[in-house]
Amino acid sequence: MERLWFLNWVFVVWLLGCVCVCVCVEGLGVNWGTMATHKLPPDTVVKMLKDNGIKKVKLFDAEQSTMSALAGSDIEVMVAIPNDQLAVMNSYNRAKQWVQRNVTRYLFNGGVNIKYAAVGNEPFLTSYNGSFLNVTLPALQNIQNALNEAGVGDSIKATVPLNADVYNSPETSPYPSAGRFRNDISDLMTQIAQFLSKNNAPFTVNIYPFLSLYGNDDFPVDYAFFDGVSQPVVDSNGIQYTNVFDANFDTLASALKAVGYENMTIIVGEVGWPTEGDKNANIGNAYRFYNGLLPRLAAGKGTPLRPGYIEVYLFGLIDEDAKSIAPGNFERHWGVYRYDGQPKFTMDLSGQNQNKLLVPAQNVEYLPNKWCMFNPNAKDLSKLADNINFACTFADCTSLGYGSSCNNLDANGNASYAFNMYFQVQNQNPLACNFQGLAMVTAQNISQGNCNFPIQIVASSSGGCSTVTAVFVTLFLFMLQ
Ligand SMILES: *[C@@H]1O[C@H](CO)[C@@H](O)[C@H](O)[C@H]1NC(C)=O
Ligand SMILES: *[C@@H]1O[C@H](CO)[C@@H](O)[C@H](O)[C@H]1NC(C)=O
Ligand SMILES: *[C@@H]1O[C@H](CO)[C@@H](O)[C@H](O)[C@H]1NC(C)=O
Ligand SMILES: *[C@@H]1O[C@H](CO)[C@@H](O)[C@H](O)[C@H]1NC(C)=O
Ligand SMILES: *[C@@H]1O[C@H](CO)[C@@H](O)[C@H](O)[C@H]1NC(C)=O
Ligand SMILES: *[C@@H]1O[C@H](CO)[C@@H](O)[C@H](O)[C@H]1NC(C)=O
Repeated sequence: MERLWFLNWVFVVWLLGCVCVCVCVEGLGVNWGTMATHKLPPDTVVKMLKDNGIKKVKLFDAEQSTMSALAGSDIEVMVAIPNDQLAVMNSYNRAKQWVQRNVTRYLFNGGVNIKYAAVGNEPFLTSYNGSFLNVTLPALQNIQNALNEAGVGDSIKATVPLNADVYNSPETSPYPSAGRFRNDISDLMTQIAQFLSKNNAPFTVNIYPFLSLYGNDDFPVDYAFFDGVSQPVVDSNGIQYTNVFDANFDTLASALKAVGYENMTIIVGEVGWPTEGDKNANIGNAYRFYNGLLPRLAAGKGTPLRPGYIEVYLFGLIDEDAKSIAPGNFERHWGVYRYDGQPKFTMDLSGQNQNKLLVPAQNVEYLPNKWCMFNPNAKDLSKLADNINFACTFADCTSLGYGSSCNNLDANGNASYAFNMYFQVQNQNPLACNFQGLAMVTAQNISQGNCNFPIQIVASSSGGCSTVTAVFVTLFLFMLQ
């Protein structure tokens, strides 16, 4: 009897393990960005991917520590060449070197399962002022040709992840069926499509319903999600669109068709929803977005013009507190996980909308429970603003902004939040909690309501750059005293 009970229990555990490990929307990928002051160790992240049954990952470089952690995992990988290296890849020899050092080198038994090489990241964004217009296609050609020459071009494809602003947006174009590439780059886009087609490589596009909504108060909010709108957009061909994701995707499908590539595979390189940093960036909306997206992907629904399976990479896996906030405060909050590998909301990767949390990162090491706070006994407050400014230049204060979780703190709370963020970035170095006598260390959790004052994790040892910054900043602080 007891043994039977035990066996039942083993069976349940096995079943649970299996549910966690095997069930995930087929082909669902995630973007693993690493622009964080404190990175989780790559092995921890890879374990997290496996624990959640995620079998595809898209990177923004080809860092050796990341690649080593992925070796033997069988996870399909998109490695990448950052924009600032596109120009050097215009030399075929350098492209060959890159392929050798960052691709073929990992292709041994038990190595890395590389599927794609991303050449640049949204290089044609209008905000780059055309800086990469001349170097992207030659880099793409060189990388694919080098892959072909190395004998791996059949299984590894070069592609260029592009932002949806390479074609007229579904907001300005009357209908998806009228989709065309942007006028200023339409020849270039045609040549890129031609080259991709010749090599059987996919077109990669990043689609952001959140950005359609951001800064556009006239945009119908429901159209950014998947649970229906009162007035669908009716295309001239009669097709009804109830969400901007489909409309955006089909605008691209139409643009490709117009230049002769109606059958080219389209990969969604990035799609997701941020949780902080704007009035529309919050956990409720992120939950609603994924809760609509994932079941559609699981069902292989596709879009009106492209029914069926779509290969999709969610953006992103983990929050990145060192990303540029030029596009907006939300940039550091795209993760479905917090900085420490804890899931932010329930999200069912199997697309069945079961109310469950992603499996968190295991064995995460935190710094001690110490916070830095505004010193209530401080007398001279004349330098307070300068010190807050300093803290927020080197640490992430975006949660204080409008629409974010810490936006309703009082002035002292604001100061404490800024000081603590800086103190944590500096690995709780006591010198980093002085601020000209305005701050003090406390062992009390000074979080307030929904506003969490975080404790940083122990930084993964590969953070050589942050050590240099820490030394520099410590020196700077001495000078301030
Ligand atoms: C390989 O990738 C790394 C990381 O992205 C980069 O720093 C390095 O320059 C690349 N190697 C070559 C030979 O281009
Ligand atoms: C693009 O041009 C604008 C206006 O001239 C400038 O402010 C911005 O810094 C430029 N961006 C880049 C990436 O060169
Ligand atoms: C790209 O090439 C064109 C034609 O050769 C040239 O006019 C333009 O200045 C170049 N743009 C950049 C950013 O180098
Ligand atoms: C796309 O595929 C369809 C069905 O296989 C085929 O009839 C059509 O000719 C293809 N279009 C192009 C441009 O290759
Ligand atoms: C706290 O900081 C935020 C963001 O800078 C600001 O909007 C808010 O007005 C500040 N609150 C007080 C009471 O100073
Ligand atoms: C501090 O308190 C907040 C809010 O109560 C909580 O979410 C957080 O986990 C606490 N932090 C630590 C390190 O205990």
